[in-house]
Amino acid sequence: MLKKAVIPIAGLGTRFLPLSRVVPKELFPLVDKPLVQYSIEEAKNSGIKEIIFVARPKKKGILEYFQEDPKLEKLLKQRKRTHLLKELYQIKELTKGLCLSVVFQKEPLGDGHAILQAKKIVKKSPFGVFFPDDIVDSKTPCLVQLMNIFRTAQSPVIALKKVSEEKISSYGIVEVEKISNRLFKIKKIVEKPEKESAPSNLAIVGRYILTPEVFSWLEKESTSKHKEIILANALRRMIESGKAVYGYEIEGRWLECGTKFSWLESNLYLSLRHPEFGQRLKKIMKEI
Ligand code: UTP
Repeated sequence: MLKKAVIPIAGLGTRFLPLSRVVPKELFPLVDKPLVQYSIEEAKNSGIKEIIFVARPKKKGILEYFQEDPKLEKLLKQRKRTHLLKELYQIKELTKGLCLSVVFQKEPLGDGHAILQAKKIVKKSPFGVFFPDDIVDSKTPCLVQLMNIFRTAQSPVIALKKVSEEKISSYGIVEVEKISNRLFKIKKIVEKPEKESAPSNLAIVGRYILTPEVFSWLEKESTSKHKEIILANALRRMIESGKAVYGYEIEGRWLECGTKFSWLESNLYLSLRHPEFGQRLKKIMKEI
């Protein structure tokens, strides 16, 4: 049903300065894999066949990561390090059956502007959007949870998660009308509200299913030089004009990686659950 996904990776990652000047945030390791790999795994496990990255022209490293490297394979064989080949093959395996393509966002003019760059490739089909610094650790892949709603809704669906009161002012928060367990119709999107005035404690997670209609709403947003085009703003205007946009309170743990602290927290969470490293790390933690 849903075959395409857009992964914007052209942001500046300013919350990770100075490191993000040379290493794109999306390539930061989360335990032993780059952040973006978790999105690709989720997309594949959700039945996505075509992934469109929106990258900055300078950020070629991300593409290289997913390309085969026969030279390196040969070297590992020559140096009798064949046991390490499996680390390379897991990427080959992951990208098997996936069509990966790239479009460029010349200037970092916002997440919505990034998505707009994929318009020509997405064409007329609905598509998933992954912000790779949000990872969801769940039994059912987060995108599949959204697909289950989209199947009947046929309108944009946004992933939601409850956050604690003191964190509300850091997120996009939604005003909702409850439809059924976990499913909501979104009435309003409020960016970073004060906790006293917040319409709910449901925050927007970086997973969406969008319809191609969204492109025209993104185009309507201002494109002046310094003004960013933000997806949440375009969705807000869609809702204001009477279009249906749904929210689904996803199951699973939301692992945020957009700030230094949340990235460390997510590393800690996944490391301690890692089949190879978890037990050893717990021991070391006790010692220190
Ligand atoms: P974020 O706000 O999380 O990323 O955008 P950022 O802007 O890179 O980080 P900060 O806020 O400066 O620390 C969500 C996603 O949208 C992409 C980012 O790469 C990230 O995956 N994005 C953002 C773009 O592709 N282009 C943009 O102009 C902005």
